[in-house]
Amino acid sequence: MQKIPVFQPLIEQEEIAASTKSLELGWLGMGSYVGEFEDAVKKFLNISDRYVAAVSTGHAALHLGLMIAGVGVGDEVITPSFNNIADFQAILATGAEPVFCDIDKQTLCIDLDKAEQLITTKTKAIIIMDYDCVLCDHSRVAELAHKYNIRIIHDAAHSFGSKYKDQMIGSFSDICMFSFDPVKTITCIDGGIIIVRTEEELNAIHEMRLIGMGQPSSVMYQNQRAWTYDVKRIGFRYHMANLHAAIGLAQIAKMSRISDNRAAYGIYYNQALSQIPQVKVPQTDFSDITPFLYYIRVPEKDRDALRAYLLERGVDTGIHWQPGHLFTLFKDFRRGDLSVTEEIVKEIFSLPLHSCMSIETLDKIINIISSYFQEK
Ligand SMILES: Cc1ncc(COP(=O)(O)O)c(C=O)c1O
Repeated sequence: MQKIPVFQPLIEQEEIAASTKSLELGWLGMGSYVGEFEDAVKKFLNISDRYVAAVSTGHAALHLGLMIAGVGVGDEVITPSFNNIADFQAILATGAEPVFCDIDKQTLCIDLDKAEQLITTKTKAIIIMDYDCVLCDHSRVAELAHKYNIRIIHDAAHSFGSKYKDQMIGSFSDICMFSFDPVKTITCIDGGIIIVRTEEELNAIHEMRLIGMGQPSSVMYQNQRAWTYDVKRIGFRYHMANLHAAIGLAQIAKMSRISDNRAAYGIYYNQALSQIPQVKVPQTDFSDITPFLYYIRVPEKDRDALRAYLLERGVDTGIHWQPGHLFTLFKDFRRGDLSVTEEIVKEIFSLPLHSCMSIETLDKIINIISSYFQEK
């Protein structure tokens, strides 16, 4: 029996043709496709007052975002514990310490009241994250940042293509990042985007993504390099490869189909699964939302049994996530009350959501969940 995977990238003829073309170009490092991909992201997000840089991964984008925010040794960064490990590791990579915050029970995004209580003189930045198909309260985030003069890193790895109050996610935050890793809404195989407010910040990112080399991007985007340059700051090998950008370009061209499909599947799941009393569905109607994941919550005693029941019937499921504060590496870092996080992580799991699925596949998954609860 072929398993229905949790994730399935939409790789079609266009991505294969784009890969071949970029390999035939013979310029494998950062080149013309990277510049084109940045322009395509900018156009897609309708940004005119922000600067966009492509990097190797979402993790790299987070690390550079924190560096741009001036985060370093002795600083603290508040993050939801209910977040990807990449965020915690990016904080550690700067020499700063994560401070684990709880989430809001409705949105599953950071609880801003609890975040405010965790702010001290050491707090340099807050990472906020749109958990899948329900967005953060971005208006309140901006108020909080202003009130305490704190930088915000907006982790929008899950919300590429979504809109908040008619504005594209990525178009309004202090520092924003996306991930285009193998399983994301669109993929570059691996890749990330960081969006900043000033040209100065963009220039710093250009240098940091190229191990500090002051190679002008304008030269590299012509598939050339400058052989002499200065090195003025710390840097990492975080640039995006041409092949990856070429795939990203083929993917972003399909965003309207991808958004429509994923939102329609979210609506379909929500309508059917909200009929089952034991199942809690995401609190959204999916208008203006391009979901990355589709998650449900069930009673703690049923979560693992239902996942096993689905797997026995050919449906894979995922866990997003184990909370950060319980990992060995992070067990000694400061935290607030995490009671909501600790409750949610025992109930939540992710169902398959792809950019192209049949109604039969969705019905199969829904029917298995329904029969699990009927048999009980
Ligand atoms: C919320 C979130 N942030 C950051 C990342 C890291 O992105 P990447 O895998 O591109 O490094 C992920 C990856 O899954 C993620 O889910």
